[in-house]
Amino acid sequence: MPKEPIILGVESSCDDTSAAIIHGRRILSNEIATQEIHSLYGGVVPELASRAHQQNIIPVVDTAIRKANISKEDIDAVAFTQGPGLLGSLLVGSSFAKAYAMGMGIPLITVNHMQAHILSHFIDEGKAVPKFPFLCLTVSGGHTQIVRVESHSNMQVIGTTIDDAAGEAFDKSAKILQLAYPGGPLIDKYARGGNIHAFKFGKPKVKDLDFSFSGLKTSILYKIQDSVQKNPKFIQEHLGDLCASIQYSIVNILLEKIQKAIYKTGIKEIAIAGGVSANSFLRSELQKLADEKKINLYIPKFEYCTDNAAMIAISGYFKYLEKEFASQNEVPSASLSF
Ligand code: KG4
Ligand code: ZN
Repeated sequence: MPKEPIILGVESSCDDTSAAIIHGRRILSNEIATQEIHSLYGGVVPELASRAHQQNIIPVVDTAIRKANISKEDIDAVAFTQGPGLLGSLLVGSSFAKAYAMGMGIPLITVNHMQAHILSHFIDEGKAVPKFPFLCLTVSGGHTQIVRVESHSNMQVIGTTIDDAAGEAFDKSAKILQLAYPGGPLIDKYARGGNIHAFKFGKPKVKDLDFSFSGLKTSILYKIQDSVQKNPKFIQEHLGDLCASIQYSIVNILLEKIQKAIYKTGIKEIAIAGGVSANSFLRSELQKLADEKKINLYIPKFEYCTDNAAMIAISGYFKYLEKEFASQNEVPSASLSF
């Protein structure tokens, strides 16, 4: 039997610097340096993100190699995020990966960040993986997509957002509620115990499998501005109910479209991926839907929902098997599509 490759994955598309080592489909280490600095500004500041990646990249890769208990000579290839993402951030990871591959004389592999979120389902966790073809609801800070996945390399986006992403809807709503960035996990936390029907917000009307979240955000903004004018303590007094109602509205938009996609395609293998797939309400509502409709649902481990290099490493693994290597002339792309 051929020896399984050891691959170094490098992720630097937004504000997390991450490095992972994978052996075959088994993760040996997955180091993530999160950049706290952005919470001071209520969102990711691209210039600061690039600088922090520059500071973090070598220590993060070094720690990933040490924690995997291997030496750098054991690595067979380097996979890096080519896009989509912030260009200055992508440049740090790609320059590092190219230099590393050249210095060690090993192959270089480019990875699409959005495909990598989906492929995180194939990391060996000793449990069932989605069967092809399956539908993946990929919900992150920058993207909201329904993807029809035919194989590890053949994927088509069949629905996407026409304005904000689902993660953006969570983060912008949290900002209106004066919560820190990123606000998605905080809305999730404060929503527990809140009444999902306490407040009603506008519902988008978008065709087919596409999404829209900007109208919802405006409706939340007006409701809160109005209420705070009448009662300055409105947010503090109703935080749980507000978070629960906002979360309910966002999750409902996602659920409606995934149900439509199931109906349209007849596919009953469903996966979720991306930062918002960490949301507890989305996870439990999808599970209910799956139980009711006899659908096989695949939910990633929490650590593989938000940005991480393990997903880049597993994507690199599949390309390594196909000998799909990249040249040193490859450049990152902020708007890379499938
Ligand atoms: O995939 P990701 O880590 O980065 C991008 O590629 O964008 O996603 C980040 C997004 C942020 O908008 C964050 O607020 C959201 O995922 N997020 C959540 C939760 N955890 C992370 N949104 C709702 N509930 C959560 N528990
Ligand atoms: Zn992401």
